[in-house]
Formats: sequence, structure tokens, C-alpha cells
Amino acid sequence: MPVQDLIEEMNAYYARRAPWHDSYMNYTTPEAMEKLLAPIIDIVERYLKDRNVLEIACGTGNWTRVLAGRARSVTATDVSKEHIKIAREKNSDIDKVTYAIIDAYKINELPGEFEIAFAADFWSHIPKSMITPFLEKLHRKVKKKGWVIFLDMLYRKEFDKDGFFYDDEGNRINKRTLPDGSRFRVVKNFPTREELEKQIAGYATHAEYIEDRELMRWLLIYNLK
Ligand SMILES: C[S@@+](CC[C@H](N)C(=O)[O-])C[C@H]1O[C@@H](n2cnc3c(N)ncnc32)[C@H](O)[C@@H]1O
Repeated sequence: MPVQDLIEEMNAYYARRAPWHDSYMNYTTPEAMEKLLAPIIDIVERYLKDRNVLEIACGTGNWTRVLAGRARSVTATDVSKEHIKIAREKNSDIDKVTYAIIDAYKINELPGEFEIAFAADFWSHIPKSMITPFLEKLHRKVKKKGWVIFLDMLYRKEFDKDGFFYDDEGNRINKRTLPDGSRFRVVKNFPTREELEKQIAGYATHAEYIEDRELMRWLLIYNLK
């Protein structure tokens, strides 16, 4: 399956999944989300004070709210207008967030420069051949010596419940069915620590990889050269 087709199918999936995203993630309220992810938020917030943040794949704006509560400003981006609409409504009481509907693979087209870039649950959806082109573009949006934080999920059996297969470039493709019966193929990779560190080695002066086995999450935090 050509990578461009995979990406289009994933975009269609997320456009349709938007109304269910928060309940899938147990982000029933902003407070519930903060409570659930408190150990991760405690780590991420150390990097936010007085910084302007570029958020990739903000989805329905849960992390956007967390970031905005601790940073100077947030530019929250997502390819899905359906997600951005929910994020805007959810965070209508916060004035330091700017939203932009933009494909992460074209993030170079977004104006501005940022002190830190953050993405939650996006890396796992990047087809392997798109990782380096994406990082190249993302890093150009972050100031010299700025920070980049990726948060994502460790493997859990439940991801396999509707089936999966590997494509020609080694992406793990999950079959997913939404509550309305619509079915999609979605890239869901589970990179190892070594794969992540290798991927960013050429760009980072300092990198930290953290796993939270209770929350089944990994965090990759690095400082750009
Ligand atoms: C699993 S959700 C995570 C959303 C949010 N970061 C969170 O933690 O709740 C993945 C998000 O990635 C977005 N996404 C997928 N492909 C994208 C792309 N190429 N550019 C920007 N956003 C993308 C989807 O629209 C969706 O909002």
C-alpha cells in the first residue's frame, strides 16, 4: 500500500473518529485527563515555563490545555478540522492558544519559530519512511538549542483486537472499526528505545528516554543542536 494512500486513510479515520476520541482515551474531562497522566505531566511541565510551544497533532485539545496552563503560548496544529473544532470549543476559555489546520508533514509551511515542539500520540502513526522528512521539517521550526518532546504508547494487546499486519516498509498496520461500523487501516508503530535514539541522534545534543510502565507510555525529550 503506497505511503500516501496510508496517510489519506489515516486522515479519513481521524476525521471520523473525532467525536469519540476523548472517551476512547478516558479523557472525559480536562481534570480526568490531568489526573490520569499526572506523572507524565509532571515531567513535561519542567520544559514549558515561559516558552512558546508548537504542538503537533493536538487532536481534541487535551494536551493543548495542559501546555497552555504552563507555557507562555501554544500554537496547536492538527490535520483534522474536526479535531481542531472540538479543541477550540473545549479551550474557548483560554486565550494563549492559536490553532492551525495543517499537515505535520508540511509543518515547514507554518509561520513562526518556537522554543519547544510537543507531540502526543503522533509518532506511532508516522510511516517509517516519513520519520526523517518529518523531523527535518519539525526541527527547522524550533529555535537552535530548543527542545522537542514526543509522548506515545507502549504496546498493549488490545491494539490487536481487530487485527494487524506489516506493510512492505515494516509499518505495523492496525485494522480499526469505529462505533459507526466504518473500517480503516491505521499505522501504529511501537518503536524501541534504540530505534528512537538512532532516529534523533544526528539532531540532538542531549536525549532522555523515559518509560512509564503503569501508564504504558514512553517519552522522548531532546535538546536540538
Ligand atoms: C491519537 S490522536 C492524538 C491526539 C492528541 N495529541 C492527544 O494526545 O489526545 C492522533 C492525532 O494525530 C492527528 N494526525 C494524524 N496524522 C496527522 C498529520 N499528518 N498531521 C497532523 N496531524 C495528524 C490526528 O488528526 C489526531 O488528532
